[in-house]
Amino acid sequence: MKGILSYAVLMLFAGFVSSAAASDNDSGNKFVRDLMKKMTLEEKIGQLEHPVIQDKTDFKELEEGVRSGRIGSFCVTKGGKLTLEERNRLQKIAVEESRLGIPLFFAFDVIHGYNTVFPTPLGMSATWNDALVEEASHYAAADASGSGIDMGYAPMVDVSRDPRWGRISECFGEDVLLNERMGSAVVRGFQGESLSDNTSIASCVKHYVGYGLSMGGRDKQYTEISERSLREIYLPPFQACVDAGAAAVMSAFNDISGIPASANRFTLTDVLKEEWGFDGTVVSDWDSVVELMNHGIASDKKEAAEKALVAGVDVEMKSDCYLSGLESSVEDRTVSLKRIDDAVYRVLKLKFDLGLFDSPYSARNDIDEGYVRELNRKVARESMVLLKNDGILPLSPRTAKISVVGPFSENQDLLGWWTGNGNQKNVVTVVEGMKNISPSNTVIVQGTEARSKAPVTVVCVGEPGSTFGESNCLSDITLSRSQVELVREVKQTGTKVIVVVFNGRPLVLDPVLDYADAVLLAWHPGYEAGNAVAEILWGMESPSGKLTVTLPSASGHIPLFYSDRPSGRPSENKYKYEGKVKASFPFGFGLSYTEFEYSGLEVVKNSDNTVDVSVTVSNVGDADGKEIVQMYVRDEVASVTRPVKELKDYRKIFLKKGESEVVRFKLLPEQLAFWNVEMEKVVEPGGFKVWVGPDSAGGLEGRFEL
Ligand code: GLC
Repeated sequence: MKGILSYAVLMLFAGFVSSAAASDNDSGNKFVRDLMKKMTLEEKIGQLEHPVIQDKTDFKELEEGVRSGRIGSFCVTKGGKLTLEERNRLQKIAVEESRLGIPLFFAFDVIHGYNTVFPTPLGMSATWNDALVEEASHYAAADASGSGIDMGYAPMVDVSRDPRWGRISECFGEDVLLNERMGSAVVRGFQGESLSDNTSIASCVKHYVGYGLSMGGRDKQYTEISERSLREIYLPPFQACVDAGAAAVMSAFNDISGIPASANRFTLTDVLKEEWGFDGTVVSDWDSVVELMNHGIASDKKEAAEKALVAGVDVEMKSDCYLSGLESSVEDRTVSLKRIDDAVYRVLKLKFDLGLFDSPYSARNDIDEGYVRELNRKVARESMVLLKNDGILPLSPRTAKISVVGPFSENQDLLGWWTGNGNQKNVVTVVEGMKNISPSNTVIVQGTEARSKAPVTVVCVGEPGSTFGESNCLSDITLSRSQVELVREVKQTGTKVIVVVFNGRPLVLDPVLDYADAVLLAWHPGYEAGNAVAEILWGMESPSGKLTVTLPSASGHIPLFYSDRPSGRPSENKYKYEGKVKASFPFGFGLSYTEFEYSGLEVVKNSDNTVDVSVTVSNVGDADGKEIVQMYVRDEVASVTRPVKELKDYRKIFLKKGESEVVRFKLLPEQLAFWNVEMEKVVEPGGFKVWVGPDSAGGLEGRFEL
């Protein structure tokens, strides 16, 4: 009886909780509806205005806009340097001096940290550690929230296979599943248990949608995307983030096959709001509404406003088309008051959920900075990918002297392109890290005079934060000639060469590979860069990061990614003077200081059409280590062409040397679904290949029939 009673009590409690949540929703709904009844059309349109606070902002003008109810929220840029006090002062004007006292929300690019800067998203994705990314995002949110920020414009989940595009550094790589999982980890980390918690901020997932296909890898260019590719590749990470509860979505700059993303009713309303049931707020990206005029689908700001609003953009960032045009659009019935009310409801409900009506003012959070720095170091270590090791790593404790040279050896420009509220002066350089971590008997020498005086030389190369990120695209992603020359010169002195690469995007590293005894890809790892590099080089932790983007061997091979569709004649996948195209380092690749062996793959199809896949992974090397076990699938024959491989699951395990573990995956039918000729999402019967292994190029192969 007791068991039943507890079950019944549990159900009653669950019912109470859900009804409480519903009633909270109801109370929020009622509160917002009642408030909207009091609002004028001008005040409603004011709630849709999201101007920018940047370095030259005239605060007097802003204050008047807030006081008159013509501004609903702010985009704060790094240059805006909005202090907590200034934020609360603006809020006070809104709450105490505007007619209805509707609070503002403040948004900022919390991309990979706020006061403490973590590795860039592309670097964080190389950890394949969702929980770690979620924890880092939680601390970034707590930092930002305590500084007066209510919304972070993240995660960026634009799947990209074009490293010429500088913004590939902001996403979680070329794979759909990793962008789904990592993106939703950021949403959970930002939003926590409740948006109204003072350590939470709203997640604004971006850039919806297809921005990663920007033509030629040049920023904000045309994208040609079929509905099939939208639904199979570019939309799923956004759906995962919406399913994780993302409070907002940012519409993108790019034209999607003739209809710009910020005026695209199909993506913004049919799919996002109707098919997926997204009840949050769509915020346009910077000027993307007024830029509809440049796209040539709006003749003036009024038409731009109409096209964006009707398509589904609720809040306009930076440009003022809504403010200047919507009142007359309602009067001439080009825009319905119903659509205005829908947009205003979404914004006010967001403010209600953020708790801004009850507590509009922010207060600092008590953050354990020491813990966050340690977390930063852990994420940085786990993000680093060992590409080559001829045995020089881990460094021997008997190494008497190590030179540390190169343009990034004492460089603090390791925070990526988005640097949050961070400051490069807080970055631990490689020289400092090596001095912090190295054994006392090892002398660390630095600078150019050091090159030839040590048996081991660490050469730090890469790209500065100003050569990737927004508007920073390259036609050639090969490591710079001068840095290749430096590595070659150092090698010629007879020293052992360890190349550490600080990259934002994937780079072509082939020119240095022959001169390097080891290559460690470190991305832009954030504050703890030097300490994390040193801890990896000294073997305090075995490298465990794995590539979430393909490293091509030439820029001319772009786009090159593992989950390509098959060709009718695969032998033609080549260039005339180079032969068959092959990645320099494939998706999923990363070395360790130990060896992992895969054996005993078992694939069992169950009567409910789920498939149990298991494999034994053994640590057969000389060190403890983490391994990222990856499962890929191929649909052999289907009604449309299917990728040659697709990542369907992954598991990061830790094995002491000599240990083994049976890793089990369960494949669900819906993981095998795709969009058929009629654009219906289906699972078709037939044969499937399955691989389980250390990267996308190898692994044990099995098969099953559905
Ligand atoms: C920028 C970026 C977007 C960012 C926004 C606000 O143009 O495209 O990622 O969140 O403007 O800074």
